[in-house]
Amino acid sequence: MQLLCYGPLSQWRQSMALRAIAAAATCLLIFAVFSLYGRHDNAQLGPVVNAESPFLSLTNSSACHVDLDLLRTHASNISAEYARLEIVVARTSNFTQFSETLDLPKLNFHPVQLYTADQIELLPKERCFTSATIQAPVASAPPNASHMIFGVATSTERLYDSLDAFAHWAAGTGAHVVAVVDEDGSVEKHKKRAKELDIRLTIVQNSDELLDRYFSLVRILYEKRDELTQWVVLIDDDTFFPSMRNLVTRMKSYDPREPQYVGALTEDMSQLHYAGHMAFGGAGIFLSVPLVKQLDAVFNNCYDFKHAGDRMIARCIYHNTLTKLTWERGLHQMDLRGDASGFYESGRSLPLSIHHWKSWFHADMVGLSKVASICGEDCLLRRWRFSKQDNWYLVNGFSVVEYSAPFPNPDAMEQTWDDSKYQGLDPFDYSLGPLRKKDEGKISFRLREAISERERKQIRQIYVQQRKGDQKPRVIEVVWKSLSNSEV
Ligand SMILES: *[C@@H]1O[C@H](CO)[C@@H](O)[C@H](O)[C@H]1NC(C)=O
Ligand SMILES: *[C@@H]1O[C@H](CO)[C@@H](O)[C@H](O)[C@H]1NC(C)=O
Ligand SMILES: *[C@@H]1O[C@H](CO)[C@@H](O)[C@H](O)[C@H]1NC(C)=O
Ligand SMILES: *[C@@H]1O[C@H](CO)[C@@H](O)[C@H](O)[C@H]1NC(C)=O
Repeated sequence: MQLLCYGPLSQWRQSMALRAIAAAATCLLIFAVFSLYGRHDNAQLGPVVNAESPFLSLTNSSACHVDLDLLRTHASNISAEYARLEIVVARTSNFTQFSETLDLPKLNFHPVQLYTADQIELLPKERCFTSATIQAPVASAPPNASHMIFGVATSTERLYDSLDAFAHWAAGTGAHVVAVVDEDGSVEKHKKRAKELDIRLTIVQNSDELLDRYFSLVRILYEKRDELTQWVVLIDDDTFFPSMRNLVTRMKSYDPREPQYVGALTEDMSQLHYAGHMAFGGAGIFLSVPLVKQLDAVFNNCYDFKHAGDRMIARCIYHNTLTKLTWERGLHQMDLRGDASGFYESGRSLPLSIHHWKSWFHADMVGLSKVASICGEDCLLRRWRFSKQDNWYLVNGFSVVEYSAPFPNPDAMEQTWDDSKYQGLDPFDYSLGPLRKKDEGKISFRLREAISERERKQIRQIYVQQRKGDQKPRVIEVVWKSLSNSEV
């Protein structure tokens, strides 16, 4: 009984009234609840694995189980349909490429009762098997990005909220991140958090308007450069770099000793029409130091032209230097309104940058990036077909989808987002084509949470499909495991 009262069970949900009751009474009550409901639930699912001592094993979270709390947070408080996939990753130095399909068995959904006090439900052995084993490249240390200085203009509050996402690309790389924020309050907790996350962060507080703060980055970053700095990079607080290694590698193809203005156009012709041919800020704007030196010399002139920050940069460059934009196709402004899932699910190579993921469209970049610790950055957003016999796909860290029909051209991106305001032809094709029509019958499970279990070398991803009417939501849990004897 002692084990029962210790650990997660004693914190069970909806326990407000019970909190007042002494611990002993709580134990008795929980025991009673288990006797009434626990066995009943298990009965639906067949035998419990640990037959000798089901109660003790309920506190043992390393046994294979469904995390009912997680399902209650993301799916339903009553009941759901649940399926589990387990993918084992062997990291090998002779890795060549990821397979197209995973050769998974058909998904098997089982009902799960959530209107209970239980926190977990043990799963029988036959539902806890390795669904697929794949190879992945060996893990590598973070790249050296000490030649890049990143500038972001934001608020103190948004800066704090952005640090976890920044950590994915900046932590341990030596990249210098300079944030210019308002003067609303202390930034001590920001500094502490950045240190914990191993982000090299400098915070400058000033009272300028946001747009002026953005342009002022040109001068601030120029002043804060050091002898290693080759690139001055302007970003938004919702600019995300899925793979710093890929970014560093790609930037090596540009000569930083020349004046360089590298960035991305908007994807939408109507935005291009209004804002003009320039590097759009959210995708990241990469300026070589020789160019920034030229801009710094005309700073005051350029600062007086009040406009959107990225427009001010473009105008300053076009009016004062011979440098023109180089469109780096891996960078993405993501001017896609509504449902941008077609972009993420395209199965194309991993974007160098992503933007608007927490404003125009919600996608959890921190959740997405977690699985990189198991299969490497190149498996993020990787699209695997379940098997050649069906139209199910796993888009790693983003969704699980079933298309209503096979699509003949695997390169075609599904245009799920809203139409452009542009009246002419093909407003998105110059940037994202080939495109295909939205699949109205697509079944889509979206990532709701990813949980790292470091000590067990695994990541659990929770994908949820909410359904219409009184149909139960469906949940797919994908458990990613490191093969323990794989090379590291
Ligand atoms: C928990 O369960 C695992 C797997 O069933 C077992 O190896 C481990 O010894 C158990 N731990 C405890 C503390 O009971
Ligand atoms: C279940 O109830 C909790 C507590 O009231 C709530 O926070 C949560 O959002 C609910 N879950 C769903 C899926 O509605
Ligand atoms: C790749 O490496 C694995 C072990 O790391 C080995 O078993 C396998 O034979 C190798 N394959 C090739 C083609 O070298
Ligand atoms: C990164 O590269 C610079 C310049 O080559 C070097 O001085 C620095 O020590 C490197 N940093 C790390 C962490 O390797």
